[in-house]
Amino acid sequence: MKHILIIGATGQIGSELTMELRRRYGNTNVVAGYIQGAEPKGELKESGPSAVVDVTNGEMIESVVKEHHIDTIYNLAALLSVVAESKPKLAWKIGIDGLWNVLEVAREQGCAVFTPSSIGSFGASTPHTLTPQDTVQRPRTMYGVTKVTTELLSDYYFNKYGVDTRAVRFPGIISNVTPPGGGTTDYAVDIYYSAVKGEKFVCPIKEGTLMDMMYMPDALNAAIMLMEADPTRLIHRNAFNIASMSFDPETIYHAIKKHVPAFEMVYDIDPLKQRIADSWPDSLDDTCAREEWGWKPAYDLESMTVDMLEKLREKLKK
Ligand SMILES: NC(=O)c1ccc[n+]([C@@H]2O[C@H](COP(=O)([O-])OP(=O)(O)OC[C@H]3O[C@@H](n4cnc5c(N)ncnc54)[C@H](O)[C@@H]3O)[C@@H](O)[C@H]2O)c1
Repeated sequence: MKHILIIGATGQIGSELTMELRRRYGNTNVVAGYIQGAEPKGELKESGPSAVVDVTNGEMIESVVKEHHIDTIYNLAALLSVVAESKPKLAWKIGIDGLWNVLEVAREQGCAVFTPSSIGSFGASTPHTLTPQDTVQRPRTMYGVTKVTTELLSDYYFNKYGVDTRAVRFPGIISNVTPPGGGTTDYAVDIYYSAVKGEKFVCPIKEGTLMDMMYMPDALNAAIMLMEADPTRLIHRNAFNIASMSFDPETIYHAIKKHVPAFEMVYDIDPLKQRIADSWPDSLDDTCAREEWGWKPAYDLESMTVDMLEKLREKLKK
């Protein structure tokens, strides 16, 4: 992995993944791909090359890959779960037609490809506790449908054409740089902003609703570790369960309140988000990732909370 293209580099994960890859592989070797209206700014813009890459345009992807001698593509372009429900056709176009374009370019130009799946690839008929690596995947959201298809299409290109496709199923990602893009787990980011701003948090997800979550540094590490893993050890490829913590709104609220005693939370349930959350696993079994490529998270809820509050206080000068 020497010359890397990130498609969707200005999103919640892409903005931090691009900077982490630049730290590890050198600024000039990591190209930030973006679409018009979502241009890179600040350090992301200044620190390395960037290019317009619309995932729905195969020729555009090919020309950037050739120009920068790209050997690895991190394809992060997607519409997240809540947004995809209101724009299902566009979610398919970006998530699946876009992936097809990426895989075709990868096949022709010899690139490895990382396209994340999600806990959203599971559905109500999946075992909810310690969800196994290989299990029922019958989601009823368009987000989930695109994620299962992503996994299958990526495996197809690996088995049929030998394209080096690898992925993880990300849980809800908690971070403090770029706000989340419209997913069901966004509340677990928003709650920290409310705590630091001294505002009452209005939680859209019911008490008792467990979902898997992960702090951004662990998520970045997972993606990069997997792309660097010895391929002869990989039994699975698309996509690995990874896990670090699972909690409900009350648990994260109390974890924050320990450090911000005056913090208050009330509930105003969003029916769409709740329906999606209820269909997702409570916790994932990530044994295969641990055994096949040494996955191990560094953060738990307490250490993440300390770090999130410190970073957000600095960012918001509170
Ligand atoms: N953030 C999470 O909690 C989470 C959890 C599970 C899986 N994932 C997956 O990780 C990936 C990245 O997620 P994210 O949270 O950074 O999402 P995001 O919505 O923050 O970012 C998505 C990026 O895709 C870009 N994009 C949109 N349309 C595009 C197009 N036609 N061509 C190229 N780029 C386009 C957007 O400009 C944006 O930069 C997605 O596949 C998502 O499903 C995220």
